[in-house]
Amino acid sequence: MNLLHLSHLKRTYHPHSAHPVRALKDISFDVDPGEYIAIMGESGAGKSTLLNIIATLEKASAGEIKLNGQNLSALTVDQAAKYRREHLGFIFQHFNLLNSLSNRDNIYLPLVLSKTAVSKMEKRLQPLASSLGIENILDRYPAEISGGQQQRIAIARALITHPDLLLADEPTGALDSNTSNEILDLFASVNENGQTIIMVTHSAAAASRAKRTLFIKDGRIYHELFRGDNPFKKYQEEISQTMMTLTNGGE
Ligand SMILES: Nc1ncnc2c1ncn2[C@@H]1O[C@H](COP(=O)(O)OP(=O)(O)O)[C@@H](O)[C@H]1O
Ligand SMILES: [Mg+2]
Repeated sequence: MNLLHLSHLKRTYHPHSAHPVRALKDISFDVDPGEYIAIMGESGAGKSTLLNIIATLEKASAGEIKLNGQNLSALTVDQAAKYRREHLGFIFQHFNLLNSLSNRDNIYLPLVLSKTAVSKMEKRLQPLASSLGIENILDRYPAEISGGQQQRIAIARALITHPDLLLADEPTGALDSNTSNEILDLFASVNENGQTIIMVTHSAAAASRAKRTLFIKDGRIYHELFRGDNPFKKYQEEISQTMMTLTNGGE
């Protein structure tokens, strides 16, 4: 069974106004467990809208979206909140850590919200902290560490619930290229260990690390590319080329 199934998904903002915004016009794709997918497209193409619908933060206007067979459109607001906590992990461009909490407590937060025992939280953090290289910064605060380190803490927070799906919106958008590469290396190894990832990115270099890239234009899927056995550089060029064609009005 697919992990995620989207069929003829549509999202219109202000549908009854004089100027409805058709952010998503017809989006269909499936995601298998263990996939690593990048989503690219110009500003305003509908990437964040798509990610927000998968994240159950927004509802589709029409079409079907199922995660593990669960129809996400049918969830009430409360059910969606619980579903998000238990099944999804999020990573954002600006990390979104709480400055009043230590890094350790930031990571524990989603488990605290679902009333997990402290011993279980500690047990889950240990292997994560070692693989993310954050063991020695757990008792500091977000303001006391670098952007790259903050993103590592955010990755730990996203993964500590063992989510079915990791969603990332421009995770390297606020980082320099060396730090971006370190974060992308972590994504790759997390994916190697079986974690399914969907990442929105503007960067062809970032997208080239994913196994498949979906290109969105005007609320529709314009094209998709698979890395296959291509060397990263060649695949990155292919992605850049596709973005250029898409930007230049190719239909
Ligand atoms: N809350 C909203 N209300 C009205 N229009 C919106 C809203 N959110 C996004 N849009 C519009 O929907 C389209 C897609 O936006 P978005 O999904 O944010 O694109 P992207 O993330 O690819 O830049 C744009 O035209 C944007 O202006
Ligand atoms: Mg966006």
